[in-house]
Amino acid sequence: MKKTINIGLCGLGTVGSGVFRLFSSNADLIAQRTGTEIVITRVATLDRYDHLGLELSRTTVTRSVDDILGDDTIDIVVELIGGTGIAKEIILRALATDRSVVTANKALLAEYSKEVFEAAYGSRGSLGFEAAVAGGIPIIRSIRQGLAGDRIQAISGIVNGTANYILSAMTHNGIDFDTALKKAKQQGYAEADPTFDIEGIDSAHKLLLLMELAYHRYFDFNQLPIEGISKIDATDIAIARELGCVIKLLACTRQSQDGFEASVHPAMVRNDSMLASVSVACNAVSLQGDFAGHIMEYGAGAGSHPTASAVAADMIEISRALIEDRSPFMLPLMVPHDQLTDGRILPLEQTESAFCLRVDLNESSAERAAVLQCLTQQQIELKSLMLRSAGDDSRPVACLVVTTEKTSEGRVKAVLPVLQSLPSVIAPVKLIRMVD
Ligand code: HSE
Repeated sequence: MKKTINIGLCGLGTVGSGVFRLFSSNADLIAQRTGTEIVITRVATLDRYDHLGLELSRTTVTRSVDDILGDDTIDIVVELIGGTGIAKEIILRALATDRSVVTANKALLAEYSKEVFEAAYGSRGSLGFEAAVAGGIPIIRSIRQGLAGDRIQAISGIVNGTANYILSAMTHNGIDFDTALKKAKQQGYAEADPTFDIEGIDSAHKLLLLMELAYHRYFDFNQLPIEGISKIDATDIAIARELGCVIKLLACTRQSQDGFEASVHPAMVRNDSMLASVSVACNAVSLQGDFAGHIMEYGAGAGSHPTASAVAADMIEISRALIEDRSPFMLPLMVPHDQLTDGRILPLEQTESAFCLRVDLNESSAERAAVLQCLTQQQIELKSLMLRSAGDDSRPVACLVVTTEKTSEGRVKAVLPVLQSLPSVIAPVKLIRMVD
């Protein structure tokens, strides 16, 4: 039986330093629970770390990941550098030498999922990626273990803390987009490139991982329709409020008879729904299992300590196997490799939703009637109509807000260029999905 598990930690940023603190702070508890010592014996970082106040007496700090990958005493390689460059090399090299890997790298796993998961299937090591989705919420374990007997029918969630922080600040504190983003960066929530957060890309990475795990299929990231929150303005927030909703960035998938629906998009969520109450940098994931029914998990989706907690859970699970002389190997996507197939995401036009349309136009009742006529000609069933005043006396502007019953996205999108071409329409027509 192994006495000590040696960890090589690559990256000492927000999450890496959190992992280090967790293993310092909870060392006794973890030793009690695992019957062994888990020691971070090597750390590779290019960043300064003296100001972090870490207890490094049992750790060798190096600037090169080769010092970790070349050290045969390292049992688990923890990749917390992020991105798709050196991180990919670390993971593939470690798996190729049958070492276990733990990572929070959703971008890499989503964009190179086939390559990385195939490497994991071919290794005697394990690939832990709990921290890649929804920070401190153990959603991967919920699917893998808690719902192991269920067919997952649908998943919808708020899985980007930064975007949720920004939307919450705009909704509840009247803070503008840029100030809210700055604050999210200061808190360590945002990605190195915050475009990933605000344009929905980070949410899409996480959604793709959940889909691959839940449906046992590889999906092409480029097929996933993604719309972010950068075009959401104070008027959209006010309109949502008047409709009894809040705007959230949702990552959604559903398995229907026709195939797999999936997309990331801003949506108006009714105030009385559970997702509406998820604020600041929190995440929530709602799952529909065919036997378990509806389950929702809520918690901190970003930040140093919550993400470190998820990384530690994978490290501890692998350590338990190693100290019991069991193979740490886990089927990365729950089924044997030869049972994985390629999945196709249905074009968004073939899916259905209720919508809120916002048409900004010069005050003219004739044009308002024309807007409504366009919609009814397309057989789009209207649910409500609201006219808001904007502009001033010299240039009166109206904002026509129409909500629809559930209808096909293709049908609504077909009407957008027609509306846009009306002479009085003075801004891009906005379309926001509405969900219960
Ligand atoms: N930038 C991510 C977020 C970090 O804001 O949710 C956690 O994945």
